Amino acid sequence: MKNAAMGVSPQRLARLAMEMSPVLADWFDAHGRDLPWRRTRDPYAVWVSEIMLQQTRVETVIPYYHAWLERFSDVAALARATDDEVLKVWEGLGYYRRALNLARAARLIVAAHGGRVPEDHAALLALPGVGAYTAGAVASFACNQPRPAVDGNVKRVLARLLLVNGSLSGPAAARHLAESARALIPLGRARSFNQGLMELGALICRNPPRCPDCPVRSFCEAARQGVQAEIPVREKRPAVTPLSVAAGVLVEDGKILVQKRPAMGLMPGLWEFPGGKLEPGETTGQALAREFSEELDLAISVGRKIAVIRHAYTRFSVTLHAFFCRLVPPGQDPRPTAADEIRWVRPGELSSLAFPAADVELIRLLAERGVEPD
Ligand code: ADE
Repeated sequence: MKNAAMGVSPQRLARLAMEMSPVLADWFDAHGRDLPWRRTRDPYAVWVSEIMLQQTRVETVIPYYHAWLERFSDVAALARATDDEVLKVWEGLGYYRRALNLARAARLIVAAHGGRVPEDHAALLALPGVGAYTAGAVASFACNQPRPAVDGNVKRVLARLLLVNGSLSGPAAARHLAESARALIPLGRARSFNQGLMELGALICRNPPRCPDCPVRSFCEAARQGVQAEIPVREKRPAVTPLSVAAGVLVEDGKILVQKRPAMGLMPGLWEFPGGKLEPGETTGQALAREFSEELDLAISVGRKIAVIRHAYTRFSVTLHAFFCRLVPPGQDPRPTAADEIRWVRPGELSSLAFPAADVELIRLLAERGVEPD
């Protein structure tokens, strides 16, 4: 029987599993990079690393991985932490829901699994933030279970090895690739083989592919047909929307007003300086006055400009215009309508809270130049 969507016969998969897969596993054992999460078999540490590595580069993750394990050395330590503490350690890594899900999952593991990361696939999959890839990675990297771990890099490698035409996005392609990846795992070597596929995708089977360096080139159907550079078909990247945002550093009695973003939506649970997007035709000053009125019921005057900070997020490129502000008249009490919480903090306390990257840069500038609104 043929696998219709992929055109890969079970016989070919079985032959590759016998002949190619051990070669790839050997190559990984001999040449895989020495990365911190490859030195452990602790499912908790592997799980943390895999969540951090989603959408994030290895070099960026390494210091965060060490800091996280230093601060939350096991599931119980993470389960005891507040979301604020968790977000502070994650600050700068982006996609903050990942951190909140790790903490939620840790609390669940303490409640339901005695504080040990479950090794059972269904139990892993039931944890918040854990999908098929992460469950397979934890099961195979930590426990050597024969589970596939197919991320974007591995999809590309498999598409070339097996010559998969067409889009790799969507559940049908994901299922076929995962089934193929599982059929390729050599007996007793899931850990080295799965990581070998990932390493091949990260280092060699890239765009453009570096076929002369590939340890399994002789098994690659795309290379045999000379079409490896055209596979997989390119997906359209989502557009990056430019956004102009005004942020106010509201100073009263030496303290600054900050607010916590809602648990739903972008950058959940992070603190920020009040403000918001500019409406069409609005100046930054007008936007600030409107946002303070709408979201905090405060009347302000906008003072000195502090900085213009640009930051590229995945879907947005944000230009943040930051101004000092004062309450006019003084002594008004904020009534938040859009924030989960507000706080008046001393400038020195700002760095103990977790902020989005652009706000972190603003805090750095305030620390450097001082908080002198007038
Ligand atoms: N990307 C995702 N998981 C990874 C891992 N375990 N090692 C290197 N890069 C990765």
